[in-house]
Amino acid sequence: MKNWLLAPVKYARAAIKNIAIYGVTITAFLLPAVSVHADSGGARVPLLPKYSQECSACHVAYPAGFLPAASWQRVMEGLGKHYGTDASLDEASMREISGWLKANAGTYKRVSEEPPENRITKAAWFLRKHREGEVPANVWKRASVGSPANCAACHTNADKGNFNEHEVRIPK
Ligand code: HEC
Ligand code: HEC
Repeated sequence: MKNWLLAPVKYARAAIKNIAIYGVTITAFLLPAVSVHADSGGARVPLLPKYSQECSACHVAYPAGFLPAASWQRVMEGLGKHYGTDASLDEASMREISGWLKANAGTYKRVSEEPPENRITKAAWFLRKHREGEVPANVWKRASVGSPANCAACHTNADKGNFNEHEVRIPK
């Protein structure tokens, strides 16, 4: 598997295969523990309801595992001036979401680097995954895409925290 972000999947799959011979009960018991790691940077950690509610109005609720804690903290502290818009929240929601993001922030080596502007889309791993050979430059300019931050334009299940390369479809 060429993708470091999804490396845990390999182990998860192997584990599931091994588990299968012991029967359904054990599989069902162990699966929840496995599936937390079974996608990009813990992308399938169930979203805090408050987070999906407040942070998916303008873009997908980005998986917490795609930015390190320090970057999330800066995003949350700067919501009044959020990439050219006002995304400010009441104090209680702010605290709840900040705490959850901190607890679920990315800890993989390559996610631990704090990207410029606190942008997932400026992280070295993101640029590598979306380099010219994977996404031709003209694709980013299509109206149907608009911005690299618009993950859902191409990752058909981004809203479910699924960024698997097999579920990518580049729009016309
Ligand atoms: C009022 C609309 C709005 C809301 C609500 C909103 N955002 Fe954003 N967000 C934006 C815009 C606009 C951008 C810039 C998108 C672009 O560059 O195309 C952005 C970008 C981001 C980025 C950087 C994306 C990248 O380029 O990697 C992060 C991280 C982010 N938002 C987190 C959050 C979080 C966390 C919340 C909830 C607390 C939130 N946003 C709520 C409008 C919003
Ligand atoms: C213009 C379409 C497009 C947009 C927008 C886009 N991606 Fe991608 N993404 C791709 C393509 C194409 C690949 C490479 C798939 C492959 O390796 O075959 C990819 C790969 C990935 C991978 C690696 C998946 C794997 O299995 O190797 C991750 C993680 C990812 N993208 C996350 C994101 C996130 C997060 C966003 C939004 C902040 C985003 N992408 C926006 C097209 C896009």
